[in-house]
Amino acid sequence: MAPLVVHVTGARPNFPKAAPVLQALSAYPVEQLLVHTGQHYDDAMSEVFFRQLGIPKPDVNLGVGSGAHGAQTAKVMEALEELFTQRRPDLVVVYGDVNSTVAAALVASKMGITFAHVEAGLRSFDMTMPEEINRLVTDKLSDLLLTTSTDAIAHLGNEGTAPEKIHFVGNPMIDTLLTHRERFDAAAVRAELGIEGDYLVATLHRPGNVDDPDDVRALVAAMHAVADQAQVVIPLHPRGRARLEDAGFLDHPGMRVVDPLGYLEFMGLVRGSVGVVTDSGGVQEETTILGVPCLTLRPNTERPVTITHGTNQLVTRDTLAERVREILAAGKLTQWPTPPLWDGHAGERIAAVLASSLGAVRP
Ligand code: UD1
Ligand code: UDP
Repeated sequence: MAPLVVHVTGARPNFPKAAPVLQALSAYPVEQLLVHTGQHYDDAMSEVFFRQLGIPKPDVNLGVGSGAHGAQTAKVMEALEELFTQRRPDLVVVYGDVNSTVAAALVASKMGITFAHVEAGLRSFDMTMPEEINRLVTDKLSDLLLTTSTDAIAHLGNEGTAPEKIHFVGNPMIDTLLTHRERFDAAAVRAELGIEGDYLVATLHRPGNVDDPDDVRALVAAMHAVADQAQVVIPLHPRGRARLEDAGFLDHPGMRVVDPLGYLEFMGLVRGSVGVVTDSGGVQEETTILGVPCLTLRPNTERPVTITHGTNQLVTRDTLAERVREILAAGKLTQWPTPPLWDGHAGERIAAVLASSLGAVRP
């Protein structure tokens, strides 16, 4: 019987990471089961990725929905424990740093099931971020640690992870970007949204920016100073939307808030922009490959390779307007470095590591 590989996904950033792994692993004699925990459930946060990226419909949806960290993580754990007890996977694969990731890691490791972490070893060293806690716990328990950058290998080494567990495979999110790049239609998105002239894109959803009312007020003022210089289009994540709107986010003629966009539309929007202001992890990586200047509104990043090898820089609310002035004056980049192994073949390298751990050989 073919070995069973269970992929656990659940939140928006998981889907473009899992897509190339599912695809590449289908060339091997393994059975694959795709689990969606239901952490994200709006069409624009979930299903649109499956439709646009050709990801198979999840075999199982655990339907956990939203909740406080403990409750949400516990619901995923309870449902996965039952599923793993029934199906007895030979390997579990988890992606990124969301609550669904750490929940699957805890269940798999306690049940003695081998599991692999795609995007292991990233560190912001900021324990106020829930994602940092999720990364540390997941990596500590992982049997196979698949890394996107060399700094991640160094962090894992410093934490005492055995070198034979670590595999430098590149970035599967970038596989997805390169596969679908020709479908990112900046002109179509511009027409659809009625945008004229130069524009910046913003995405903001980190608790550190949008949860506390004082932070929100300061963020609104900082973003209005950006909109004084160029119009800003913001596909706004549901987290914090009400708080931002209540604090007057929209009370500026240059601010344009839209609902979260599908992957292709979002990437088209970014591709056609003069720059991005974000607190997203994935967007720092995508702008690096598209050559779009990226201002990350955070005190730190777990993706420093997007600064050393990309278009990213960290900004504060106080420095944001000045950095926007600089990127608008500098114009489009013509040359920039890109990180090693962000070449569109990470999914194949990941599949090869997973298959080899199962003794599965390509026919
Ligand atoms: C989660 C991840 C974060 C990631 C982000 C990507 C954790 C701890 N955080 O944050 O790392 O950057 O996803 O988007 O896992 N909501 C909806 N519709 C949905 C999903 C959520 O309206 O489909 C709203 C709910 O009010 C929910 C809130 O958004 O309470 C937050 O959702 P949640 O999944 O808990 O965290 P995110 O902020 O999305
Ligand atoms: N994204 C999208 N539509 C949007 C915003 C984001 O398709 O309106 C995509 C984009 O590819 C991004 C990914 O969703 O990289 C995950 O983004 P998010 O900021 O939610 O998560 P993070 O990477 O911060 O965990």
